[in-house]
Amino acid sequence: MAEGNQDTKSSNQMWGGRFASGPDAIMEEINASIDFDKKLFAQDIRGSIAHATMLAHQGIISADDKDKIVEGLNTILSEIQSGRFEFSRKLEDIHMNIEARLADLIGPAAGRLHTARSRNDQVALDFRLWVKEELQKTETMFSDLIAALLDRADEHAESVMPGFTHLQTAQPVTFGHHCMAYVEMFGRDRARVRHAIEHMDECPIGAAALAGTGFPLDRHMTAKALGFREPTRNSIDTVSDRDFALEFLSIAAIAATHLSRFAEEIVIWSTPQFGFIRLSDAFSTGSSIMPQKKNPDAAELVRAKTGRINGSLIALLTIMKGLPLAYSKDMQEDKEQVFDAAENLELALAAMTGMVRDMTIRTDRMRAAAGSGYSTATDLADWLVREAGLPFREAHHVTGRAVALAESKGCDLSDLSLSELQDIHAAITEKVFDVLSVDASVASRTSFGGTAPSQVRQQIAWWRARN
Ligand code: ARG
Repeated sequence: MAEGNQDTKSSNQMWGGRFASGPDAIMEEINASIDFDKKLFAQDIRGSIAHATMLAHQGIISADDKDKIVEGLNTILSEIQSGRFEFSRKLEDIHMNIEARLADLIGPAAGRLHTARSRNDQVALDFRLWVKEELQKTETMFSDLIAALLDRADEHAESVMPGFTHLQTAQPVTFGHHCMAYVEMFGRDRARVRHAIEHMDECPIGAAALAGTGFPLDRHMTAKALGFREPTRNSIDTVSDRDFALEFLSIAAIAATHLSRFAEEIVIWSTPQFGFIRLSDAFSTGSSIMPQKKNPDAAELVRAKTGRINGSLIALLTIMKGLPLAYSKDMQEDKEQVFDAAENLELALAAMTGMVRDMTIRTDRMRAAAGSGYSTATDLADWLVREAGLPFREAHHVTGRAVALAESKGCDLSDLSLSELQDIHAAITEKVFDVLSVDASVASRTSFGGTAPSQVRQQIAWWRARN
């Protein structure tokens, strides 16, 4: 392609046939997507090779032209990979940058590549391939995070900590059990990723501009060559659909929400007041003015990433809202949202996996906190139901009086004497002290999915078999 064609005065070399002059500078500025869609170069080239191969197989272009096209595209691939390719904003996007360079390299045969194809199905293909690969990468990252949590859960299946509701001490649980709650969340995220991959596994190329084409394509052949299950079934939908991008962003937003909850807990746990964990130096920073400080910056940033990821989801939902069928240029705005969300989700997942693996669990501090705040009050009430036959509501009332007494004396429930307890209810015996310890409390919660170490180990084994 002659360089002279690329000045602002001449019309676009790709579609400029009916244009007398080139675009206004502002038009070029608003129209060009190459600065961000160059990320799709490998997918664009793979798609073009599959398309050209199919065209030759169907006798739509000659085998000779196909060979030239494939060779040229491979040259371009290595030029881009080695940083030798010059991207031009005048050529708008990745598709036209590559096609123009192909013409430079192989001459008129390059013009045959775009037979029975439009940039509308081309970009739908490139972007779908990119999102599919990103989902596959994300799936692995969820598995890594789950593996890290399973290891910590295993290590701490018996380590007692306070369980909270309303961030008030509720009942003792184990740290292993708490970790497994996040395994469930990230497990659901990973399941959503797998489902999305299955959902989007249809090949757009061959839908052409919107109506399909009269050329005798074999869309099943291109679908197979590009690793898709099958071709899409409606050419109009194919070029106007960005559900795969919206699904990616929805999954990312839900996962970011999970990550932010965990990050928040890490921030709280690492304060001197809680002191449940110590973050490694690798995932914290110091203060430039206060020498004593160690800040949980990685956790705070993971917490914050939720903002921009949610923003990307809302942005693309809003871009797509009310768009008439089929393709509109609005849809060019889809990529930056997905690229940014993907980059930041990957970062957040990697940082969280690192923190989980590196943090020191301060079991002594967790145990001390677990025993305070009358966390075994429910165990006392349950004991009164089981051993003394009280209705639960009455047992709840009796226990409330024991808590009030302990509170007035400034001690724990287990520090009350037997006679003090018997003054509250005569049926209480020495055996009650067996259930007032945090270990006894935790060990007793053997209901399926409960916090007893035996249950936690059972759930760890279930997940290990699936990770
Ligand atoms: N750069 C465009 C995009 O990202 C490619 C498709 C352009 N199609 C068109 N009819 N102008 O959406």
